[in-house]
Amino acid sequence: MEKLINQAEETQTLSQEELAQLLAADEAAAEKLFAAADRVRRQQVGDGVHLRGLIEFSNTCRQNCLYCGLRRDNHQVQRYRMEPEEIYGLAVKAVGYGYKTVVLQSGEDPYYTLEIMEPLLRRIKALGLAITLSLGEKSREEYARYRAAGADRYLLRIETTDQALYERLDPGMSLANRLRCLQDLRELGYEVGTGCLVGLPGQTLASLAADILFFQSLDADMVGIGPFIPNADTPLGQETGGTFELATRVMALTRLLLPNSNIPATTAMETLHPQGRILALQRGANVVMPNVTEGDYRRQYALYPGKICVNDTPAHCRGCITGKIQAIGRHVATDAGFRRKEPERRFAQIERTGIEQESRGESEGMHE
Ligand code: SAM
Ligand code: SF4
Ligand code: FES
Repeated sequence: MEKLINQAEETQTLSQEELAQLLAADEAAAEKLFAAADRVRRQQVGDGVHLRGLIEFSNTCRQNCLYCGLRRDNHQVQRYRMEPEEIYGLAVKAVGYGYKTVVLQSGEDPYYTLEIMEPLLRRIKALGLAITLSLGEKSREEYARYRAAGADRYLLRIETTDQALYERLDPGMSLANRLRCLQDLRELGYEVGTGCLVGLPGQTLASLAADILFFQSLDADMVGIGPFIPNADTPLGQETGGTFELATRVMALTRLLLPNSNIPATTAMETLHPQGRILALQRGANVVMPNVTEGDYRRQYALYPGKICVNDTPAHCRGCITGKIQAIGRHVATDAGFRRKEPERRFAQIERTGIEQESRGESEGMHE
């Protein structure tokens, strides 16, 4: 196992089989994997932790993903939609907390038309913030117009690369369209974020290994990995769910294969482990997304039970997470935290994946 870890650290290559072996390895080997991921993180992206202020602006969703508490058939959830002014007000507060990026996240909610989103994005951009969107699947035209209005990055997890599993868990959706979205986002010059759920019913280690290879082949700028946490108000409520341990192994291997990507310590990890985000920061992560959503909305954005920070204020979370980061000898980064890539590696990657050179060059120019 140690040989495989060294190989990954030096060459960023592991086969699907080797990845699956490392996911199944014993605890001693896992400790070595985590130490390697921590080393690579320090060498490639440094000790700064990027904070992204998360605004969960609508919990209304037209999709019906079997794992998610926001699915349209869940009538236990009280739905809300923030008005644009309210969203803007939270972005202003995010600036006050010192965040350089806001992440606007919601269910797939058609209420937010381009006529609403474009002026909102322009106003938020004028605050000097980097903007990450996480609004689900949209048309290329919509992605293009968000981008022109100021969006810099987009998060769209692939969830699982196992097509049969994906299409069983996301009724009415297709893996092909998810891939189309990611390709469009890439071509439009976004920093592209993807990721997966770990511990889905029927998911194998081989399938998780394929997910990691997919992140690498996409040359993902950001990769968010979270354990699946069963929600009693969904059809998967009785399933076992993922573990913190396995989710961090997937994350650590992703760091080895995509050394300079931005990798968050996810909220779901801390839901399963009281020190989850801090441990994740020591196992390859370099980003945290503290919640900026206020009041009842935090509780109502109920993807899964036990979500952290639901009774805390944004100001409290800002102080809390800063303290935790400093306690492990790291610091809050002061820049916007765009991915830094060395050109040689980038072009080598493009050749390998066949992703168009022009669109990558464009995105790079924007951010450096
Ligand atoms: N609707 C958009 C989408 O699906 O891309 C963005 C919001 S969605 C709530 C964000 C992420 O929540 C999903 O990509 C999914 O991985 C995660 N999620 C949903 N249900 C979950 C659960 N039960 N446990 C852990 N994560 C979950
Ligand atoms: Fe909607 Fe996203 Fe939840 Fe699926 S994961 S039901 S698209 S909010
Ligand atoms: Fe919210 Fe610690 S980050 S309470």
